Amino acid sequence: VDEKTQALFDLYQDATKVYHHILVNTQTGEHALNYLHDRGLDDATIDAYMLGYAPGDDFLLNYFQNKQVDYQLLRTSELFVVWDDGSLHDRFSNRLLFTIRDERGRPIAYSGRRLEADDTQPKYINSPESDLFDKSNELFNLDLAREPIKKGKQVILFEGFMDVIAAFQADVKNGVASMGTSLTIDQVHLLNRYADHITVAYDSDAAGQNATKRALDLIQQNSQMSVAVAHIPDNQDPDEYLRSHDAAALADVLLKHTENPIAFNLRFLKRGLDFSNQNDVFDYINQALMLISSIDEAVVRENYLRQLADDFNISLEALSDQIRPMLMQRQ
Ligand code: CTP
Ligand code: MN
Ligand code: MN
Ligand code: MN
Ligand code: MN
Repeated sequence: VDEKTQALFDLYQDATKVYHHILVNTQTGEHALNYLHDRGLDDATIDAYMLGYAPGDDFLLNYFQNKQVDYQLLRTSELFVVWDDGSLHDRFSNRLLFTIRDERGRPIAYSGRRLEADDTQPKYINSPESDLFDKSNELFNLDLAREPIKKGKQVILFEGFMDVIAAFQADVKNGVASMGTSLTIDQVHLLNRYADHITVAYDSDAAGQNATKRALDLIQQNSQMSVAVAHIPDNQDPDEYLRSHDAAALADVLLKHTENPIAFNLRFLKRGLDFSNQNDVFDYINQALMLISSIDEAVVRENYLRQLADDFNISLEALSDQIRPMLMQRQ
């Protein structure tokens, strides 16, 4: 890399160290450290993830100015916001920091979580894109997860930082996060370099389920990976599920009891439908048949048809009649 890029890497490395130091060694970071302990993270995990705390009062700016770091370098780093008068101010204040690392483990961005319940403040504030950080091309934790992914040819895709970190501490080490609900094609390609199989383990709230639908389609259209969905019970996210159960239960949900895309899509079709209403029943059956008609193996198709027949007490013959034109259209 060129000199200027290297200077930015060094700057982020330095910032990460000092933010981490504030979190683990100072009174200023104590409440943030307690927050992490209360959420079940141990000190080894906090170190492994280089978690940090950003104090207020332009702490980082003062830190770098004391070291006489060049103004232009600070200005282009995106660690600061620039006011109209050209003055710089810390982008992250009074927030817990998740360090986003590139595939080689170098810090390139942060996401700052508020610690107060106060929801007039956004829950997370993220670094904007910079010379180091191309958001659509990064996945949180890919540096630590890469070897475990290669080894098992399998990756687990989460939404959030805490999901990845909690899973890691529970010994599920092949997890990465899309850092929100909008997976990109570049991220899919990146994962396809190392994995043959991907499990989508997004939150089970409505936003997470909609994003799962989108992710499945994106993965199937843009990669060779086989896909499964880990459906987290009780409307929780993986981290919440781990806290309310245990590591073995989480591993079960993530690795054992996964759904194939057809099963997910059938469940997804049912959202908001009322099966005491005949129109909803017929709509569902019609859409379910379209989905089933996309399955290549006749035996698997038949299996889903039987299930549908049982669920709605309809003859297999009627369902077969209705799916026939859909199968013809497929050719
Ligand atoms: N996210 C974000 N900006 C927000 C909300 C979310 O960038 N305002 C991203 C973060 O990467 C977050 C992920 O989307 O980790 C998932 O969001 P959410 O499920 O709301 O947060 P959690 O990861 O569950 O965070 P926590 O457990 O700390 O509440
Ligand atoms: Mn200021
Ligand atoms: Mn969510
Ligand atoms: Mn979540
Ligand atoms: Mn969460």
